[in-house]
Amino acid sequence: MNKINSLKEYKEEYRKSIDNPEAFWSKKAESFTWKKKWEKVLNWEFETPQVEWFIGGQLNITENCLDRHLDTKGEHIAIIWEPNDPNEDTVRITYKELHKRVCSFANVLKRNGGKKGDRICLYMPMTPELAIATLACARIGAIHSVVFAGFSARSLEDRINDATCNIIVTADGGYRGAKTIELKHIVDKALETCPSIEKSIVLKRTGGKVTMKSGRDVWLHEELEHVNDICPAETMESEDALFVLYTSGSTGKPKGVVHTCGGYMVYAEYSFRNVFQYKDGDVYWCTADIGWITGHTYIVYGPLLSGATTVMFEGVPTYPDSGRFWEICDKHQVNLFYTAPTAIRALQACGKEFVNPYKLTSLRVLGSVGEPINEEAWHWYNDEIGKGKCPIVDTWWQTETGGIMISPLAGITKLKPSYATLPLPGVQPCLVDSDGHEIEGNDVQGNLCIKFPWPSMIRTTYGDHERCKQVYFSTYPGKYFTGDGCRRDEDGYYRITGRVDDVINVSGHRFGTAEIEAAIDEHENVVETAVVGYPHDIKGQGIYAYAICHNVPTDMEAFVVEVNKTVVEIIGPIAKPDKIQIVMGLPKTRSGKIMRRILRKVAEGEVTNLGDTSTLLDPSVVADIIKGAGL
Ligand code: WTA
Repeated sequence: MNKINSLKEYKEEYRKSIDNPEAFWSKKAESFTWKKKWEKVLNWEFETPQVEWFIGGQLNITENCLDRHLDTKGEHIAIIWEPNDPNEDTVRITYKELHKRVCSFANVLKRNGGKKGDRICLYMPMTPELAIATLACARIGAIHSVVFAGFSARSLEDRINDATCNIIVTADGGYRGAKTIELKHIVDKALETCPSIEKSIVLKRTGGKVTMKSGRDVWLHEELEHVNDICPAETMESEDALFVLYTSGSTGKPKGVVHTCGGYMVYAEYSFRNVFQYKDGDVYWCTADIGWITGHTYIVYGPLLSGATTVMFEGVPTYPDSGRFWEICDKHQVNLFYTAPTAIRALQACGKEFVNPYKLTSLRVLGSVGEPINEEAWHWYNDEIGKGKCPIVDTWWQTETGGIMISPLAGITKLKPSYATLPLPGVQPCLVDSDGHEIEGNDVQGNLCIKFPWPSMIRTTYGDHERCKQVYFSTYPGKYFTGDGCRRDEDGYYRITGRVDDVINVSGHRFGTAEIEAAIDEHENVVETAVVGYPHDIKGQGIYAYAICHNVPTDMEAFVVEVNKTVVEIIGPIAKPDKIQIVMGLPKTRSGKIMRRILRKVAEGEVTNLGDTSTLLDPSVVADIIKGAGL
């Protein structure tokens, strides 16, 4: 079904997808269960922008993830859940059981006022209930907004309020390695200023002490006693929203990227099956958290739409030791494994002794996502984990693209380390220069845009369509701008070189520098901050903050601790700066714009080649900054 089997087939499919996109995607969509077939495949223009796929079609994505597999795969394992603590039991859920549990959960949502069109926030640990809650929202036509459970109360509050969620699903706590995270406490704090929330449904995971606010908070296990496991799937239009997922950009607060039911479904399945070359019976494991797009598309939807067995892991790669990933691969005989370069680099740094005890013979395909994978990490992954026998799919995509856009197809596309290689069928990338002119030919470099719609593309930013237009469609009119720089080599292969905007990618997590600056600025002694990314051996990019203070701190260590605390409170632990440098001034142009180029160079340890500094208001600050950096 919809599977490409050779390079020749890939080329044919690609050509067809360009020559006649509507016929191409219509054929792919036909393999799904639709309640009503679409009348028109595509409507689009990139100015407003307005993009609609499978117009007039009606469906429910959960019928495609669950119900349609019941006859043939009812007893097949849908989810293997591996707990944080290796001594706790693995949980295996068949498609039949998953179907029932999703329906029961859906009924719990309904019992608590959840209905079609509502926004429901999920702030949960990586337990099966997170996947179940996600699908339960989709079952009743509510829009899920999953917030990564590492974000702070402030970040959670902002996201809940932006989407005016009426229900939150959470847990008493969650385990991550040796740590227990008290999620309910964080939620309680956030909800002090979330007037739209009426109900909070709480999973008991850790058994930690929590306070339940009467009338608002209910225990999931108690609610489940009052419902049955039958819940007809709500009828959704193709273009009804399926979910909103917040992501950072260059400016302002994180925005809610909106994906819709029909197109997202078709693309999630098609990309999963083809990139990983999924075969019936394969065990597939994506190590991401469902709080990120990778988890949405390639833990939950893509694999379940394909009838695969998807592994969910609650913990972290280094607990109880740095062999955990490989232990799990052997234990569950994982065939397809998908992780992030930051994890690969961290595990590589721990040494081979954590890999050697494991056979890793079940592995057939390895995947990478979230940031550029450097050649050294690529080779280690290839040699030590794949034993030179598993193709590595370096998958480039974004929260906004919904699914993998540029990637090898495992075993089909000839690989080149650090290259995402070629676009998937239906994806029309192009490179543009700073004037917006398309750069033709090969062996060229530019800003990566996509010039034609694909089914799982962003439809809007929640509650603010103008922002969607501004951020993605106005830099290069008529094109979707990715924010990434990219090289196309002599073979026409794409290599993503990193962000060209003020977004940094730290351990595969996206942050706007402005977002971190705003957090640091909340420290009472900070006047102004400028944050840049710099190359970091493990994280890919580290966070370097230059801060102007009211009073130069006498105890720098204590100051750093306080700033970190502030950032943790406002964003979360993942946004803590790696380096903080106190400066007397920032390199600003006469129009007041910070020249980040200079700050980036200094953060990289570069003192020469700082470029033209003549437009600076006060060029002398540069020498001070270099001196302060100890260069
Ligand atoms: C970066 C994650 C190089 C890129 C799915 C993009 C990559 C941002 C790759 C999106 C890759 C993702 N090679 N860079 N294979 N994959 N990126 O929204 O800068 O969390 O714009 O989506 O990650 O991050 P997001």
